[in-house]
Amino acid sequence: MPFASLISVASWLPERRLTNADLERMVDTSDDWIRSRTGIGERRIAAEGEATSDLAARAGALALERAGLPPSDVDLLIVATSTPDMVFPSSACIAQAAMGLTCPAFDVNAACTGFIYALDVATAMIESERARTVLVVGADVLSSVIDYTDRSTCVLFGDGAGAVVLQSSDEPGVLSVHLGADGSGADLLYVPAGGSAAPMTPERLAAGDGYLKMNGNEVFKFAVRTIPEVTKRALTDSGLTTSDVDWLVPHQANQRITDTVAQRLGIPHDHVVCRIEDTGNTSAASIPIVLDSLYHDGHLRPGNILALVGFGAGLTYGAAIIRWTRED
Ligand code: ACO
Repeated sequence: MPFASLISVASWLPERRLTNADLERMVDTSDDWIRSRTGIGERRIAAEGEATSDLAARAGALALERAGLPPSDVDLLIVATSTPDMVFPSSACIAQAAMGLTCPAFDVNAACTGFIYALDVATAMIESERARTVLVVGADVLSSVIDYTDRSTCVLFGDGAGAVVLQSSDEPGVLSVHLGADGSGADLLYVPAGGSAAPMTPERLAAGDGYLKMNGNEVFKFAVRTIPEVTKRALTDSGLTTSDVDWLVPHQANQRITDTVAQRLGIPHDHVVCRIEDTGNTSAASIPIVLDSLYHDGHLRPGNILALVGFGAGLTYGAAIIRWTRED
């Protein structure tokens, strides 16, 4: 059976910055509150008309360029997103055309855990020899569902995209993935209208039902309880323990969540990747974005063990244990 190996990583962030100082002028908040409660200093916001597929295509094309692969070599494109361009077609299909790909393409929606879910599907396709090269993109324009008068949510989220190329290999790269979901928590983080349960109407629009609603405290508790457990399970599946982890690569939702998870896992701070300060929570994009900074800042060595961990609406959660195989 072939293994799936990560051969390239890239990310792309929109140009516009939304700083804490900007938010202080929009809602009753302060730089001090946002930094101390979340670790966020600024986030990027997509331009008018800039959709999830635009961000996905930028990050995906860069990942292919860095892998030295022509579009014709890609057997499958998976885009993880919960803010697709429209109900259908999928953002993956729109990004596929923009990148000049001709392969099958589909979206995966597992909110902020979407990238881990997509990585698992890609790995299974490679291991079962249904595909040799898979492009996995995490992309979200969360700003499209944020109420910028609601201080409890608008300070948290930003837009962005990150991508990896996975390829069939003799060397183990993706060692194990463990996924989970608990749909009984669906009402803790959701967008009420715009789907089949409550199609958008002028009344719902006026009531703000097109915006993200969140019970932040419950999501916080869910994350710090679930992420250490799922990480340990994925490590056990690989025959590893937390002391083998060179880099914990967590979904960037809140610095306090990351710190608590790392502490509960006993992983020291200098082995934890933190980049929430300048991106905020970019949902499905956050894990490949931080992976890209880790690689391009020169921190990854061949053989390094990475634990990619995420949680999000659903509620969903997941962990992927990766052995870094690139030599440069
Ligand atoms: N500025 C100033 N004050 C604020 C702000 C703000 N931006 N937001 C809330 N407050 C106030 C509240 O009104 C409250 O005031 P009160 O005590 O007078 O009632 C006080 O601050 C404390 O509010 P809490 O909600 O208890 O603050 P907490 O420290 O829990 O932080 C937060 C809230 C940041 C939302 C936190 O709960 C969190 O990060 N939760 C996890 C959320 C998350 O990760 N979501 C994404 C999941 S991934 C996905 O699928 C999209």
